[in-house]
Amino acid sequence: MAVKFQLNGKQVSADVEPDTPLLWVIRDTFGLTGTKFGCGIAQCGACTVHLNGLTRRSCVTPVSQVDGGMVTTIEGLDGKEARAIQDAWVGIDVPQCGFCQSGQVMSATALLKEIPNPSDDNIDQAMAGNICRCATYVRIRKAIHNAADTLEG
Ligand code: FES
Ligand code: FES
Repeated sequence: MAVKFQLNGKQVSADVEPDTPLLWVIRDTFGLTGTKFGCGIAQCGACTVHLNGLTRRSCVTPVSQVDGGMVTTIEGLDGKEARAIQDAWVGIDVPQCGFCQSGQVMSATALLKEIPNPSDDNIDQAMAGNICRCATYVRIRKAIHNAADTLEG
């Protein structure tokens, strides 16, 4: 079955089994390896992408569910919120090993689009599903506040 969807703004078609996880289609069919495999059971957030602008765990999303949809990965993330988040991440060196960070950036960007000036509680809630083994949580929270300040200023 050919599944057709937009991937980072380009129309694509994947000739795969409909229950293939979106994560494998992104990584193996299209070679975009910025989206990571962590747990495979929607518990860590490493595989987070945007589907029609909302966060989605690609490891548990059958590719058939994105037919006709718009998928954005870390490679195609764009817009003022994304740029503010990425600058803030670099500004205070958020990553340690980096493995979780594309998922963190995807979730943080979606948060800022929904809530331009999030509280600590908003941040903790929105980011709760993104696990970081290196425990960069304090810097993640600070970077999100910095990005919000940049956007506000
Ligand atoms: S790999 Fe998808 S949530 Fe962990
Ligand atoms: S930076 Fe290492 S897992 Fe998050």
